[in-house]
Amino acid sequence: MAQKTRPGPAVAVGPFFQPDGYVLNNLEHIEEEAKRRIAAASDTRSLEDLRVLFLGRKGKLTQLLRSLGTLSPEERPLAGARANEVKNAIQQALTARTAELAAGEKREPFLDYTLPGRRVELRRRHPVNQVIEELVFIFCDLGFSVAEGPLIETEHYNFDALNTPPDHPVRDEKDTLFLRDFPLLLRTETSPVQVRTLEHTKPPVRIIAPGRCYRNDTADARHYPVFHQIEGLWVDEGVSFAHLKGILLEFAKSLFGPEAQVRFRPHFFPFTEPSAEIEATCPACGGGGCRTCSGTGWIELGGAGMVDPAVLAPLGIDPEIYTGFAFGIGPERIAMVRYGVTDIRLFYENDLRFLRQF
Ligand code: DAH
Repeated sequence: MAQKTRPGPAVAVGPFFQPDGYVLNNLEHIEEEAKRRIAAASDTRSLEDLRVLFLGRKGKLTQLLRSLGTLSPEERPLAGARANEVKNAIQQALTARTAELAAGEKREPFLDYTLPGRRVELRRRHPVNQVIEELVFIFCDLGFSVAEGPLIETEHYNFDALNTPPDHPVRDEKDTLFLRDFPLLLRTETSPVQVRTLEHTKPPVRIIAPGRCYRNDTADARHYPVFHQIEGLWVDEGVSFAHLKGILLEFAKSLFGPEAQVRFRPHFFPFTEPSAEIEATCPACGGGGCRTCSGTGWIELGGAGMVDPAVLAPLGIDPEIYTGFAFGIGPERIAMVRYGVTDIRLFYENDLRFLRQF
């Protein structure tokens, strides 16, 4: 079978006989072609390719120069001088175009639309913030509005005004992080927002106050020195413990589903009387008992109670006319139950492998 051969490129392979005027003519062609192609080059890489093509060791001009020896003694110096001019002209064109491109590249960055795209890292809200947002929506649906207070508090708002006497153990430095500027401290709970709100708003008051709290706790699976609470407060004429139960039951059903129940266990808080711990049916087992609820069927949501008259009276709210309830809910605990997270520290270590799952 006959082998097919492709016609090779017509390149000069070495010094060989040239008719008169051939070299000079060719020099003109080379100069013209080089200038045209250099002017059209769009990046520094193609300019370098052109330099090699024309001026390189096997380049067009170099090849042509090799044939100078075949010229007549009259023609040789002419062609040599012209070849030098062409070489300089090409070099100049290359330098000028390189500078032009560099300036252009600065002005307008070259965009290669064929490059594969870079992965966009989608950001999400922190799982605890997602839970807080959800709780805020639920309480807003129940008629509460959102109040705020400072993270740096005074002893007055964090303790005194909340009926927490100076000798109460929560004031101990083991629990409270005091600032150097005594009596400033990092608030240990969101309850001071109750006082701040009642100071400037007359009942009826129906607020929630989500936010960060700090305690001098050693971090372990269930404690962290920074955590969140959602404070709730409803003060009006005729508000009773039954209202508190009703609101928290509605809240638990919205959060965990219509089967959810709540129960109250007697407890003590300085600013409420009576006080209770709130528990809801464990959403992981529906109340049957599992690892999440340590087999009890119930999980703790936080604390609650009827606002103590000793809190209302100093604020100019007559406890004979107005009553109120308050509660404090821990969103971290809810996030842990909801997502099956067994160690609270995971929320605050900022390990992206953990956070990306939510
Ligand atoms: N602040 C309390 C705590 O940190 C929780 C709490 C309990 C808030 C009862 C309240 C309440 O408003 O009435 O443990």
